[in-house]
Amino acid sequence: MAMAASSNSLLLKNPSHPSNGYSFKNSTTKIIFPSHNNYFSNPTRSNKPFSITCATQVQDRSTTNSTPQSQDRVFNFAAGPATLPENVLKKAESELYNWRGCGMSVMEMSHRGKDFVSIIEKAESDLRTLLNISSDYDVLFLQGGATTQFAAIPLNLCNPNDSVDYVVTGSWGDKAFKEAQKYCKPNVIWSGKSEKYTKIPSFDDLEQNPDAKYLHICANETIHGVEFKNYPTPKNRDGILIADMSSNFCSKPVDVSKFGIIYAGAQKNVGPSGVTIVIIRKDLIGNAQGITPVMLDYKIHADNKSLYNTPPCYGIYVCGLVFEDLLNQGGLEEVEKKNMKKAEILYNAIDGSGGFYRCPVDKSVRSLMNVPFTLEKSELEAEFIKEATKEKMVQLKGHRSVGGMRASIYNAMPLAGVEKLVAFMKDFQARHA
Ligand SMILES: Cc1ncc(COP(=O)(O)O)c(C=O)c1O
Repeated sequence: MAMAASSNSLLLKNPSHPSNGYSFKNSTTKIIFPSHNNYFSNPTRSNKPFSITCATQVQDRSTTNSTPQSQDRVFNFAAGPATLPENVLKKAESELYNWRGCGMSVMEMSHRGKDFVSIIEKAESDLRTLLNISSDYDVLFLQGGATTQFAAIPLNLCNPNDSVDYVVTGSWGDKAFKEAQKYCKPNVIWSGKSEKYTKIPSFDDLEQNPDAKYLHICANETIHGVEFKNYPTPKNRDGILIADMSSNFCSKPVDVSKFGIIYAGAQKNVGPSGVTIVIIRKDLIGNAQGITPVMLDYKIHADNKSLYNTPPCYGIYVCGLVFEDLLNQGGLEEVEKKNMKKAEILYNAIDGSGGFYRCPVDKSVRSLMNVPFTLEKSELEAEFIKEATKEKMVQLKGHRSVGGMRASIYNAMPLAGVEKLVAFMKDFQARHA
């Protein structure tokens, strides 16, 4: 159906129906895609053509091999979506067109067919092995990101008048608290805001409400780089601790039995965006408020083994490949050792720079995953990012709310990437000190 066209348009014969924002001509039809900028700002949508290119292009496209090579790839320090293991990408590529001889891609399969069911079952089984998850817990593969869980948790666990406790160690914990305000009565029992989210509280200082339905923490604050190294004991009646583990999920062993719920968006450590993993103690399922949308009701998803509606099939498949890879590496003990080594050399480089680089986070709670740092001479930060990008180290800019730099060094960031960054930082300092 598609015919030759310019680089930013498609020619179609007999299109089925014109739709908003696209211009059609009869017979041989030219579809002109709207300009990217106008697309969002102009409600009538412009007919200007747009083309898609790589805005962060770090190499001459004419030299890029049609068969992907590792030398074509950058070290991607993005906070999420984030770098994925090369061997996982290659495996996904080799199976993209024809999954294991079934004549179609995972993207084209029925989610209720035997093939996809085997994929999701294996993903769950491998995740259970990795985190030693007992049969007291359900593992759900959902959609909507961790943000959706900010609402789903109070909706499933609380009545509107129930109190719940939130420890807020960064922006994500704060967002979770604010969303919960719509569905129950949350209290912030500790906030690190006045200290710019650089600390984790002493657990003895927490004034937990014994009547709270649960205690909520964000195990690793992605923006501020603050990570719980151990976990508070919930003092509420049912002993329920809930953790947003989006940015340190599967980065180290975790005793799942300490938690009522662990949830995580996949797009940092275990897969592409679009998949949200919820590990939930079975006795917490089945009490959702009447107003809970069906898509947020844990019982619906647990009863239907995450197949109530069409799940993000391809994303779940890639998560499965990542879990397999983590098991092949020797499991999460081995993965944690690698993560500790990477974090150690990066923090040492920052602390050993005589103040040229600074990390504001309390040393005892620095994240192994997200390393924020600033330059003493903040006017050099743009140059730092520019030069690093030229050296194929990308996405080092800190979150817009805190500025500075942030290197996210998730499981899939190789040691070589961190070593290269550290060598660059030393060289940059030598040239700019
Ligand atoms: C710790 C944490 N929680 C929640 C979120 C929100 O996740 P999502 O965008 O998948 O809703 C993020 C995203 O970066 C995060 O880092």
